[in-house]
Amino acid sequence: MYNHLCASDARTRHLAGQAVESLQSLCGRAPDVVARAPGRLEMLGGHTDYNEGFVAAIAIEQATVVAAARREDAIVRARTDREGGQAEFDLRRLDAGPWGAWWDYVAAVAGELQREGCAPPGADIAIASDVPVGGGVASSAALEVACAIALSTLAGCTVEPEALALLCQRAENDFVGMRCGILDQFACVFGRPDRVMWLDCRTRERRLVEMGAAGLRFVVCDTRKPRELVDSAYNERRQQCERAAGCLGVAALRDVDLRMLEERAHLLDETLLHRARHIVSENERVQAGVAALEAGDVEALGELMNASHVSARDDYEVSCAELEAMRNAALAAPGCHGARLVGAGFGGCVMALVDASTVDEFAAQTAEEYEQETGLTPEIFATRAGDGAGRVRVR
Ligand code: GLA
Repeated sequence: MYNHLCASDARTRHLAGQAVESLQSLCGRAPDVVARAPGRLEMLGGHTDYNEGFVAAIAIEQATVVAAARREDAIVRARTDREGGQAEFDLRRLDAGPWGAWWDYVAAVAGELQREGCAPPGADIAIASDVPVGGGVASSAALEVACAIALSTLAGCTVEPEALALLCQRAENDFVGMRCGILDQFACVFGRPDRVMWLDCRTRERRLVEMGAAGLRFVVCDTRKPRELVDSAYNERRQQCERAAGCLGVAALRDVDLRMLEERAHLLDETLLHRARHIVSENERVQAGVAALEAGDVEALGELMNASHVSARDDYEVSCAELEAMRNAALAAPGCHGARLVGAGFGGCVMALVDASTVDEFAAQTAEEYEQETGLTPEIFATRAGDGAGRVRVR
């Protein structure tokens, strides 16, 4: 059993209703458990997590809801409301995967629970979600965490929140082969309404910082550019950071500040120097960003977000033409204080910090400009810091 119970707001009720209905048509049964896990936005702290650095992130209101019913055998049948339909796999034969498909995340989590001595029974699972898929807002973590809560509940085990987040990260690292850090799963589990989670990814110390400035919205601008080869480019960046840390004689880039980097720059080749400079400067921006947030200094926060994007684009090289077009459109639209790419990059979403009073105009103008520039139809929506993952009471 996972203790946190999500508030039963309209969006959660709607998604839960969809998942329960879909489960009914899958197996003719009501769920034994319903679990919800949100996507996330990292306000600052791109790619710092696997460098043992800092992040400042929110859980968003958009979430993935999983309704699950126990089966008497060892089969998992899972159905999503998204593209990709239905899947079936045997819990005794997880070594047959990964399959390169969305249900890898379900199987990954089931396998990791088995290893932890919390083997789930077979289950019918229906998934409903309004988190953009593959858009850099942690749709994978949302699916993993929702499934981990549902399956551990069916197994009758108690999993503490931090253990659950780490278990999902291991599942993604080992089964799916994406060497992600802990940002997504921690924001998904520990995010809270109107709070920004500051996290030290080395010590896992975290703090929930109140959004000092009222009247702001985070606007997610999805380029709808399909992300290709993200996992391999991501893993390559991670390796480069590890090499840079090795050359600099430190355990992780977390241990480097800008002065040290300048002094030891000769130890790195051009590429590694750029990669390291992004991480080192980004860590500093996270700390400055939290201070700006606490002081309610929106302009400073927006500037830090802009600097974060430029560094991710020029030093870390994880942007692309569509992200640039989206960000330029966003910066020119009314009420925008700053905008940056989110998540791994290489496509996906830009997040913008926008005055609540101009969100509609902002969205309309950004969408129009982006479409004119790229010929792609974007999806743009406003969100706020929402609740972290938990069970949903449906009856
Ligand atoms: C992906 C990973 C995270 C993090 C971000 C970049 O979302 O899953 O661990 O590294 O990219 O900040």
